[in-house]
Amino acid sequence: MLVVGTGLAGLSAALAARDAKRSVVVITKGNPLRSNSAMASGGINAALAHTEEDSPKEHAADTIKGADGLADETLAHTLCAEGARTIEWLEKLGAGFDRDKEGRIAQRSFGGTGKKRTCFVADRTGAALTQALMRACREAGVVFLTQRFLLSLSHRRGAITGVTLLNQQKSSVEAIAAREVVLAGGGFGGIYAGYTTNPLSTTGDLLAAALKAGLELSNLEFVQFHPTTLAGSGELVSEAVRGEGGYLVDGEGQRFTDELQTRDRLSRAIAKRILANSPVYIDVRHLDPAVIERRLPAFMRAASIKKGVDVTRELVEIAPAAHYTMGGIVVNAQGQTGIKGLYACGECACSGVHGANRLGGNSLLEAVAFGRLIGTRAASGRPKAPETIADEDLRADRALVAYHLEGENRFNTGAIRKSLGRALMDKAGIFRHEAGLLDALEYIEYLQGLTGGLHCIDKTPEGNVELTAILELKNALHIAEAMVFSALHRHESRGSHTRTDYPDRHEPLISLLRRASGHHLQVELLPLKGPKRWLHTLRRYLTN
Ligand code: FUM
Repeated sequence: MLVVGTGLAGLSAALAARDAKRSVVVITKGNPLRSNSAMASGGINAALAHTEEDSPKEHAADTIKGADGLADETLAHTLCAEGARTIEWLEKLGAGFDRDKEGRIAQRSFGGTGKKRTCFVADRTGAALTQALMRACREAGVVFLTQRFLLSLSHRRGAITGVTLLNQQKSSVEAIAAREVVLAGGGFGGIYAGYTTNPLSTTGDLLAAALKAGLELSNLEFVQFHPTTLAGSGELVSEAVRGEGGYLVDGEGQRFTDELQTRDRLSRAIAKRILANSPVYIDVRHLDPAVIERRLPAFMRAASIKKGVDVTRELVEIAPAAHYTMGGIVVNAQGQTGIKGLYACGECACSGVHGANRLGGNSLLEAVAFGRLIGTRAASGRPKAPETIADEDLRADRALVAYHLEGENRFNTGAIRKSLGRALMDKAGIFRHEAGLLDALEYIEYLQGLTGGLHCIDKTPEGNVELTAILELKNALHIAEAMVFSALHRHESRGSHTRTDYPDRHEPLISLLRRASGHHLQVELLPLKGPKRWLHTLRRYLTN
């Protein structure tokens, strides 16, 4: 079995499949310890009821409410029912969760619930869980191939046959044949370069490959802006800081909002202050410095290194930034995509549990719980030798790589990434409207026109980072176009998608985006509940 991605979803799927006695290869383009999962700080939700009454049912109710009418409610209940089991599994693998005075796993408050439900390892939870899972995968014999960039999905007669990838060490195109492939390579928050908590490598590569393979993407317009990041850098200021009692204050030093409301509402409240020319700060000066040191060491360190601020005595300026993408590759309740043997889990998939707005602490739970279930499911069939991948399947990718590796460069890849990020934040950020979204589409199309002039300046194939940057930029542009196109056609405000020209919420619809013939993108909206009938076939937009 092949797993693409080494975040918590990929590692959990790999370990579960190994437990089912399958041989498992995991590929990743990046450093597993710098994945988006590893950067998630504040915690993972589970209704353990250690400090107060709680239940999976209440957890599901909060998740569904937070999703603003668009959650897959059945799946939300399934997810929340897995909470305690998931924490127990992680603890057995050596996660090392913080403990309370009675020796039980400690839980802190997070937004969108009145309960203390978030389990944590200081404010480095994602990194601690990633390390525990990496170690367990290695001990279990999972094979890791790093510096492998997914290019295409190979499939025949409706079934997956494997993947083609760029070997980033050699700049060569390779194929891996597999009958079961689990996609777990993260979302696309990195397209907001300069305005995101994500690593810049989070460019929706798997979504781009899925679109190319004829699969559908759902709800791309729902981009979550994390309310608190270090102003000007996008560095995450974890929800843990507010969960531990931190305040938000404006330029006058006044608290102006509920710090533990859902992220969509809080980001809007903060953005409004900033748009009205008031800076917004996070304030922990009233907290015990020993608590800050023990429970929020990463926050303390980041504020000191990046801003020269001592948080025990000074305020830290914050601003919202793109953090998480609720939409992704369409999967059914078992994580299966429209191609037999191809599964998706974690942020690259749209399982529907988060609807239009995810609660903090639910993404790590989804990644581990559904990663495990999907890994087990994918490994449940009798292992059969994979079909070989025809040389023909590699031809287009080889031509693409050769094109960008050779030739004379005309443009600056990094500068295009930055200007894309800026345009998206301005025109498809927290507040959106039709004219801005159309501007964004036009600008993306213009930038796409430049990519033909991108070639590596250094032609050395060994470890050519320029080649990766060009391929990431192309995916970023492709997914940005798909996201903006979806946002343009959702004529309502719901969850993280706020249209100033359509302020009301309407019947709950999910959006489905696909590549139609002739490289057109096509969006359809269909009801979340009730008989599945197509409601609209919306306008088409020609892509390059
Ligand atoms: O704020 C945070 O620590 C992020 C957590 C999450 O996105 O779940």
